[in-house]
Amino acid sequence: MNARRLVVSLFVAGLCVGVSTLARSAGNIAAGAAKASFCLACHGADGNSPWVSTRLAGQHPQALIHTMKDYKAGKRFAHPMMSIVTLGLNEQDIADLAAFYASQRPVSLDKASLYWRLGGKEAITAAVDQTIALSRADPRLAGRLSGACRDKLIDQLCMATGGPCEYTGRDMKNAHTGLGITAAEFGAVADNLTKVLDKFAVAPREKNELLGMLAPMQKEIVQK
Ligand code: HEC
Repeated sequence: MNARRLVVSLFVAGLCVGVSTLARSAGNIAAGAAKASFCLACHGADGNSPWVSTRLAGQHPQALIHTMKDYKAGKRFAHPMMSIVTLGLNEQDIADLAAFYASQRPVSLDKASLYWRLGGKEAITAAVDQTIALSRADPRLAGRLSGACRDKLIDQLCMATGGPCEYTGRDMKNAHTGLGITAAEFGAVADNLTKVLDKFAVAPREKNELLGMLAPMQKEIVQK
């Protein structure tokens, strides 16, 4: 999935851990909520209607965009209604609607984004805070992780996992140029994050998805 093309990065030394994604949906939640008035008869006000086989609430925005585009292009014939509904939607409408439904708390986690399966903003905030705390006390990092970019990090992880947040910082490579972050330091932060996920008893599927997002970032961040 395109949304996997994420770059998550770990901030060391006055830096932060960052995640940026090339697959930004650029949808607007408030605009999506207004446009969704047309959809609520069938999908419910928050996309959790039990009348439709699949709930929209809490799906990854990229997954929703993908499905709507497929309906519009006639690639999904499962329900003729949706092919008609999506004909009237342009790219921005689709992105806004996806942003709105992705931000709604799902009553079932079956098709939910990693963001909701991890437990939403509170869980991500707690995981970031604890990873920073562990890393600050970690002799392998010798005070290199300041935690100054805590809020950015939370936004990045929230956005990368499909949550309703917008990261507007620099991309990972530029953000880390000149910092001389070593592979061992990157590894130490990833290790601390793993410990925190284990402490929170995050299930293997979610843990692997999250750590899988971090792995490809190493070459963006590590410079020596
Ligand atoms: C008349 C009822 C109706 C209306 C109005 C409607 N939908 Fe649907 N929608 C459905 C049904 C039924 C399905 C399930 C079709 C299927 O099983 O593939 C569906 C499926 C979907 C799916 C795919 C879900 C998935 O994970 O497979 C998306 C996305 C979606 N609708 C978005 C919207 C949006 C956005 C609107 C408003 C612009 C909207 N729908 C309006 C009936 C409706």
